[in-house]
Amino acid sequence: MNKGYDRIAPIYDAIAGIFSFNQINKSQLAFLSHLSNQATCLILGGGTGYFLQKILEENKTIQVTYVEASVKMIESAQKRIAANLPNELHRIIFIHEGAECFSFEKYDIIVCNYFLDLFDDMYVTFLVGRFKQHLNNNGLLYITDFSIPEKGLMHWSTKAGVKVLYKFFKWTTNLQTQKLPAIDTVVRGKGFYVLETKEFFKGILKCTLYK
Ligand SMILES: C[S@@+](CC[C@H](N)C(=O)[O-])C[C@H]1O[C@@H](n2cnc3c(N)ncnc32)[C@H](O)[C@@H]1O
Repeated sequence: MNKGYDRIAPIYDAIAGIFSFNQINKSQLAFLSHLSNQATCLILGGGTGYFLQKILEENKTIQVTYVEASVKMIESAQKRIAANLPNELHRIIFIHEGAECFSFEKYDIIVCNYFLDLFDDMYVTFLVGRFKQHLNNNGLLYITDFSIPEKGLMHWSTKAGVKVLYKFFKWTTNLQTQKLPAIDTVVRGKGFYVLETKEFFKGILKCTLYK
């Protein structure tokens, strides 16, 4: 398994916060209020557990399966919950595994925040196909990720910024993908439709709730 994310785990929150003026965190919470009464949730590539804490606070009974390829990221997430919500640790199953090896069960919500951008279109298509099979009736797919505005100066400057970001992750984590996948196109192509969507940071970050 790629150990690259172990290397940046101790500084991940600082980098994400500084680079995005905290919008990477804020954008993930856009539709949190829609997640208050489901029973089960799968979080893929949840990192240091920022969203994990928020969903446990929002939904007092939800059971969360947390699948993360980096053991250091899992440790950070465990520390975060132990420090802030120690009585809720029993509601989480932490799984140190790549999403590609994980045996999916059935869920009411699947969350991919800044996760699908690590893969190419083909693998995102494969994963979203699995999501479709493993969401319960009325299940929700919750995705926050980068988005390239369609035209104008923002199109070119975002493209350049995203390129730099991919270089950084290649250097620090050995990330192989170097291009943002067409997440929304793939997800809608698999039969999901958009319930809500919200842009942040001049349209560079987008949170979308699909059904
Ligand atoms: C860019 S970070 C996003 C972290 C968090 N979701 C956030 O929004 O701050 C991507 C996360 O995905 C994890 N990851 C990378 N490849 C993975 C894989 N194949 N399966 C599961 N997790 C993976 C990394 O360890 C990292 O924590």
